[in-house]
Amino acid sequence: MLEPREIKTQFEAAPVSCMQDVMEVKQGIRRNFARRAQSYDRHAGMQRLMAHRLVAAVGGSLAGARCILEIGCGTGYLTGLLRQANREARLVALDLDAALVAAARRRLGPEAGVAWLVADGETQLRGSYDLVIANATFQWFTRPGETLAAYYLGLAPGGVLAFSTLGPQTFQELAEAMNRAARSLKLPATPPIPAQGFGDRQAWSDRLYQAGFSQVRLAREMVTATFPSVPEFLKALQATGATNPRPGPISPRLLTALMEAYQTNYGRDGVIPVSYEMIWAVAEKS
Ligand SMILES: C[S@@+](CC[C@H](N)C(=O)[O-])C[C@H]1O[C@@H](n2cnc3c(N)ncnc32)[C@H](O)[C@@H]1O
Repeated sequence: MLEPREIKTQFEAAPVSCMQDVMEVKQGIRRNFARRAQSYDRHAGMQRLMAHRLVAAVGGSLAGARCILEIGCGTGYLTGLLRQANREARLVALDLDAALVAAARRRLGPEAGVAWLVADGETQLRGSYDLVIANATFQWFTRPGETLAAYYLGLAPGGVLAFSTLGPQTFQELAEAMNRAARSLKLPATPPIPAQGFGDRQAWSDRLYQAGFSQVRLAREMVTATFPSVPEFLKALQATGATNPRPGPISPRLLTALMEAYQTNYGRDGVIPVSYEMIWAVAEKS
């Protein structure tokens, strides 16, 4: 069993209030994922599931696209699926961090003919894309509404924006255990976890319509993973880099209480459940 202090927990979220905060959060996101470029693939089963469902949801728009942009390519799992499904398209893949882009480039090799970019996906798009696509990335956006509007402008007429993302019920057991732990220690406030700030299906639907998209399809599914123990889950979470971009301090007492609350309330038959709220969206520019 790991001691609490051995797990550097990074799941207390702080509110994002001004431009400097936004930049700090983005740097934190970049750093978290970059540090885990080596371990991400071993722990990203859920993200792979989301990627396959995303490709299925896009359907014929993928095979027919001549120009594709992937946002947040990470280590390149979805990039590989895109190239398999469409060998002819001009494929541009970008990520915030150079280490991740390098890992993706290695995964696909030079013959894949992908144009790799180290860039923030939350900027104006240059060009005219038939498909803009992203897997398990948009939940980290700091300006999702403005960004979707920029994608709308950067799509060719008839072009498609398709993405998967995680909703606010992701890791709901962890959030609840945090509440219970804070109450049991009589802490004045319960620190929220980052997933509680993720947009839900309705929020993404509203943003897509506000951005100008007219034909919007959304799907949502709760998927439960199991882990042998709470420390194993926290270690795996860290290994994917999906942790708090601006970690606050967490005392060993709170961490111990959190793990006990999680285990006591949710542990069954030697495992603990971990919920993922998965959301897929496909929106067309008419
Ligand atoms: C959970 S990983 C998913 C990686 C990959 N799409 C996959 O399915 O395995 C999220 C990725 O999004 C990237 N990311 C987050 N915010 C981004 C942004 N604003 N622009 C570009 N990439 C971003 C991170 O660096 C990370 O590689």
